[in-house]
Amino acid sequence: MPSRRLKGLVLAGGKGTRLRPLTYTTAKQLVPVANRPILWYALDSLVAAGIDDIGIIISPETGESIKKSVTAWKPSGVKITFIVQSEPAGLAHAAKTAEAYLDNSAFVMYLGDNLIQSGLLPLVEDFRKNTADAQILLKPVENPQAFGVAELDAAGQVIHLEEKPKEPKSNMALVGVYLFTPVVFEAIAKIKPSPRGELEITDAIQMLITMGKIVQSHPMEGWWLDTGKKDDLLEANRMVLDDYCQTNIQGSVDSQSQLRGEVEIGVGTIVKNSIIQGPVRIAENCVIEDAYIGPYTSIASGCQISKAEVENSVFLENCVVSGLQSRLEQSLLGQGCLLTKAPGQPVGYRLMLGDHSVAEIG
Ligand code: DAU
Repeated sequence: MPSRRLKGLVLAGGKGTRLRPLTYTTAKQLVPVANRPILWYALDSLVAAGIDDIGIIISPETGESIKKSVTAWKPSGVKITFIVQSEPAGLAHAAKTAEAYLDNSAFVMYLGDNLIQSGLLPLVEDFRKNTADAQILLKPVENPQAFGVAELDAAGQVIHLEEKPKEPKSNMALVGVYLFTPVVFEAIAKIKPSPRGELEITDAIQMLITMGKIVQSHPMEGWWLDTGKKDDLLEANRMVLDDYCQTNIQGSVDSQSQLRGEVEIGVGTIVKNSIIQGPVRIAENCVIEDAYIGPYTSIASGCQISKAEVENSVFLENCVVSGLQSRLEQSLLGQGCLLTKAPGQPVGYRLMLGDHSVAEIG
């Protein structure tokens, strides 16, 4: 049997309401993890699996910013096609919107806000050669109510799928990476919108099973994160820094400063009289002075941090943090946040601030 031609389809539309206020001004797929937009990891992953023809679903609202970001990412030799989905009517609706682009190819559908550790190559290779109509990835989770959930029989065959069930039949969640043949469009044509008003891909896969098609499931190896919420995003940041952060100092560090563990410092960044305990990634043109930057922190370009302790946090571009009396932990700061000392007694800090927020904390 000749091997199947495979395209990629990345879903980068939708609303991103759970990451507000950041997503008032940034598409949720562009929020950075370890200083790189989440979307870039999905694209890297597809390219590493040998897929060089990728469609990206965008929304009318955030499509232009996604296009700009993909232009900054794009490696040569990859064909990218943007497909506008007029409204966020569900994952199956997004796939349907891409039907003409997919042009009868089998495809890997990758949710643009999912991050996975393991490479896709073995799965993609397997799907290229086998006869399954669809292949899904499953992972046990503690909160299956928040996902699509699969019920398996004793032999490990998927017998039933349900989207965000109130009473889940198992703890096996559907990971946001799916492999489909064009027969999925026949299934999508037969489903109706779910109670939340969306055409669900989970319902389409269930329909494939009902139609007697072959739906194979694979256990997902390694970590997997759906970065839809602040704590998931911080967790993703920790995982990526653990796996990929490697000492690389391109800026200047004075003799009063100490760098421990894996620390990356970008071009034009100045570190003075500070301790940086990796894994930490600091991008270009930042100033870090009289500060402690603790493990699992990612700081985007143009930030200034002085007289402050920061740990386990993600800062977007051009934040200013200074004069904090307590350590800033587990925080996610949008672009241009200003966090300075305020009069009064110190309290613990746990923040999620939107772009251009200003916070004065004592
Ligand atoms: O993360 C895995 C889960 O993803 C699965 O377990 C669920 O079965 C699946 O339905 C999906 O659930 P979410 O509620 O997390 O999906 P969300 O609305 O966050 O959308 C996922 C991605 O697809 C995100 O990058 C936005 C994009 N999207 C979403 C919708 C609804 C679109 O491009 N168009 C859309 O219409």
